[in-house]
Amino acid sequence: MSDFVSNSWAMAVTIAVVVSIAACAVLLWVSGTTKVKSDSDNTTGHVWDGDLQEMNNPLPRWWVGLFIITVIFAFLYAFLYPTLGSFNGKLGWSSQGDHAVQVKKYQDRIAPIYEKYMAMNAADIAKDAKAMGIGERLFMNNCAQCHGSDARGSKSFPNLTDKDWLGGNGDEAYIKATIVNGRTGMMPPMAAAVGSAADVENLAQYVLSLSGSPHDSVSAAIGKAKFVSCAACHGMNGKGNVALGAPNLTDDIWLHGWGAEHIVNMIQNGKTNVMPPQGDKLTDGQIQVLSAYVWSLSNTTK
Ligand code: HEC
Ligand code: HEC
Repeated sequence: MSDFVSNSWAMAVTIAVVVSIAACAVLLWVSGTTKVKSDSDNTTGHVWDGDLQEMNNPLPRWWVGLFIITVIFAFLYAFLYPTLGSFNGKLGWSSQGDHAVQVKKYQDRIAPIYEKYMAMNAADIAKDAKAMGIGERLFMNNCAQCHGSDARGSKSFPNLTDKDWLGGNGDEAYIKATIVNGRTGMMPPMAAAVGSAADVENLAQYVLSLSGSPHDSVSAAIGKAKFVSCAACHGMNGKGNVALGAPNLTDDIWLHGWGAEHIVNMIQNGKTNVMPPQGDKLTDGQIQVLSAYVWSLSNTTK
């Protein structure tokens, strides 16, 4: 309840709760003490269906008892649980806390399944069919929405089944670190450093030539000189730099789209490509098995 923007909402809720519980008690008291005028035969004078008469009997004791218990229960509940505006309740219960307890219970329950994998390396885990089944399901639930259910990725989401890695060498430690911490690939806009629009076009043709893609060789030859602005990250030969996450431009694998238009766009606008950290969604055991599964995608033949 602490996410009320204004205190008056908390007050309004508190008042509404207290007044309505109190009103129930008052209603009971009033109806228990008020005398209804009745005929001498203890009927109220109301008659239905010819002969069905309403008696003026007091409320049954058991019913009154239950009603009183209900009212007391409501006050107790409001005191113990978050009911009254921004008051969190004496027990400090919250749905978030309850969720955390459930998650912890679940994690403790599944921990034994993963225990034996914690001491194994990716190559050995990859030989275990059960582990690979678990890994695939974890991938489908946590990674497939971005990397695709076949892990082959799509525009701006890298293919995890090839041996082309933006950072690191694609070993188990790199994959694990990426899952836990996520990663950010950042190329700044470079058009200002390159020069005119024509310079950018020529440079794009040169970049295409690096991978032997169809290009205009005259433009490429002119553009070549401008590649010095790119070399700091992509290397003099364009083969990339995993420490900076700068991709190899000579392998004809295009994360952000193929063709002069896309390269011009990269040079003009740069790109910040983010994978959010996934570590807190998964247990250590799950990360271990999932890393081995991802490792297996580019290291074993199926
Ligand atoms: C919200 C989308 C998203 C989710 C979810 C996601 N990823 Fe990623 N992932 C990316 C993006 C985007 C990149 C590329 C970041 C960059 O350009 O540096 C990436 C990069 C990677 C890389 C490095 C690839 C390389 O070539 O170096 C690995 C490994 C990886 N993800 C594995 C996973 C796994 C395993 C999961 C599931 C636990 C996962 N990702 C979930 C978006 C996502
Ligand atoms: C500061 C380092 C840096 C510089 C300088 C730089 N880049 Fe990049 N470039 C990157 C990074 C990092 C990425 C990958 C972004 C990502 O993770 O998505 C990238 C991606 C690219 C891509 C997309 C590759 C693909 O697979 O789709 C192209 C094309 C590219 N750069 C061309 C250039 C050119 C041309 C220049 C020179 C004008 C240049 N870059 C300068 C860091 C740099």
